[in-house]
Amino acid sequence: MKDNIVICLRDGGDRDGATLLADKLGVPISDSEGDELTVVFDNTGLSLRGYGLSYQGDFEAMIRRVSDGRLSHEMLAKAVKSKETSLRAIDATAGMGEDAFIIAAYGYEVTLCEQNPVIAALLKDAIRRAKKNPAAKDIVGRMHVYEGDSIELLSKCELPPDVIYLDPMFPARQKSGLINKKLQLIQKLEPPCAGEEELFCAAIAAGPKKIVVKRPLKSPNLAGKRPNYVLSGKAIRYDCYAF
Ligand SMILES: C[S@@+](CC[C@H](N)C(=O)[O-])C[C@H]1O[C@@H](n2cnc3c(N)ncnc32)[C@H](O)[C@@H]1O
Repeated sequence: MKDNIVICLRDGGDRDGATLLADKLGVPISDSEGDELTVVFDNTGLSLRGYGLSYQGDFEAMIRRVSDGRLSHEMLAKAVKSKETSLRAIDATAGMGEDAFIIAAYGYEVTLCEQNPVIAALLKDAIRRAKKNPAAKDIVGRMHVYEGDSIELLSKCELPPDVIYLDPMFPARQKSGLINKKLQLIQKLEPPCAGEEELFCAAIAAGPKKIVVKRPLKSPNLAGKRPNYVLSGKAIRYDCYAF
């Protein structure tokens, strides 16, 4: 996939960030967009463009979901509910961090692990911009991005987290009507999450109090393991494993 990616630096864009990402992907920096996917660094931050679409992570748009008592209606907030304080979570499949935002809004310090360097760069940029918004800054201040493979991260966890969150949904399994057009762009970057069973085993081995797995509503349990309880919505469900 990285062969199709162009890194485009425009006026006001973060040159160091563009250089770092271009080096990681082994591609040159360009001053124009490519034919397929382009990561544009300009004065608005980072955006992913292509196929007539443009996508930029936007946590400010999520503030409404977690304010004025609405957080308690979020199914994911119910899934990670805890009576304890000083909560720590690992989101082992961070993506653009929208689910991690809900977990952080609940009060968890969240380590967001993302293996794809383009998604990790877009995610870090979205967090950086949201820190400027007074209504989002405390929440995103609890979100810490780790770029790399979560199986590796989980294997060196010294202190077991309270919650490990997994959302390895392979996009092709979702009904296309459910996929937001902008997310379709992000999904072009993602490799199929081939090792979801291995990831689940690594999560168990890390010794958390709870593992929450997001699944398409009708799909089988991850690794064939029955959860202790399930929270179901219209299109997805959260399988909760308590230890
Ligand atoms: C379905 S997306 C997650 C979306 C996310 N829950 C959100 O709210 O934006 C899955 C993400 O997990 C990442 N991923 C899959 N396996 C991983 C692994 N072993 N280590 C780190 N990231 C992984 C993929 O690159 C992809 O970005």
